[in-house]
Amino acid sequence: MRVIILQTPEAVSQRAADLVCETIATEETPVLGLATGGTPVATYQELVRRYQAGNVSFSACTTFNLDEYVGLPEGHPESYRCFMNQHLFDRVDFDSRRCHLPQGNTLDLQQACQAYEAMIRDSGGIDLQILGIGTDGHIAFNEPGSSLASRTRLKALTEQTRRDNSRFFESLDAVPKLSITMGIGTILEARKIVLLATGEGKADAVRALAEGPVTASVPASALQLHANVTLLLDETAASKLVRREYYMHVEEIQRSLQKAQPRGSHLGRVGSHFDRIAE
Ligand code: GLP
Repeated sequence: MRVIILQTPEAVSQRAADLVCETIATEETPVLGLATGGTPVATYQELVRRYQAGNVSFSACTTFNLDEYVGLPEGHPESYRCFMNQHLFDRVDFDSRRCHLPQGNTLDLQQACQAYEAMIRDSGGIDLQILGIGTDGHIAFNEPGSSLASRTRLKALTEQTRRDNSRFFESLDAVPKLSITMGIGTILEARKIVLLATGEGKADAVRALAEGPVTASVPASALQLHANVTLLLDETAASKLVRREYYMHVEEIQRSLQKAQPRGSHLGRVGSHFDRIAE
């Protein structure tokens, strides 16, 4: 796991946007896994800014969002579909036919889950998955206790998640009790994963994710089993990490490698052969 600690939430969104743009630049038909919640909003704003500046195009991309509430009518302002339209899809040049979210407003929810898995498979799988993290350690809507092998399915939200997310709704009662979410097994199949966390409220969850045991009680800890995960954290979200100094040291070496010259120091010569220290 690569842990990058940045000074501000703005720096986190810049780095996340860099990773998205790199994926778009290197893949012929990029498949992006997208997340909702407050954390990625600044990243989406940065992507919109880069698009408006003519620095990136999303026209070749296919996207799959992690999750959707169940039972909200189409067009409900708090549906994740509306969130994505508002913050990203309607503001750049995505082909809307290739921007997918699970169907939370159908009666045949079982079929909707299977169809979603099939669409991800048929697209060739996700190149880069963006994730946030819940205060209880959930990723997407995989609440504590979720199977680490789970696939896209129906999931009941915990009271804590409903309370956390009620800030977007009129009242706690208006927050749906059910969601469709990609499973942890589905998420772990993405080729690269980047998890964003900002603010002190995420510090305990981040600590458990990166330095605790792999356990269904902290769904995000399953990311320890994936070979290409980057955590982009601001100082406050990283504040409870025990190996904080070490992660910063690794990033310093990483920067030296990137500046490396073939005829320079030993580190320089090593750096000319690869640009990323293995996780
Ligand atoms: C929701 C989403 C998650 C997200 C989490 C944290 O529960 N389903 O994908 O990571 O909220 O959201 P925020 O970034 O607002 O803290």
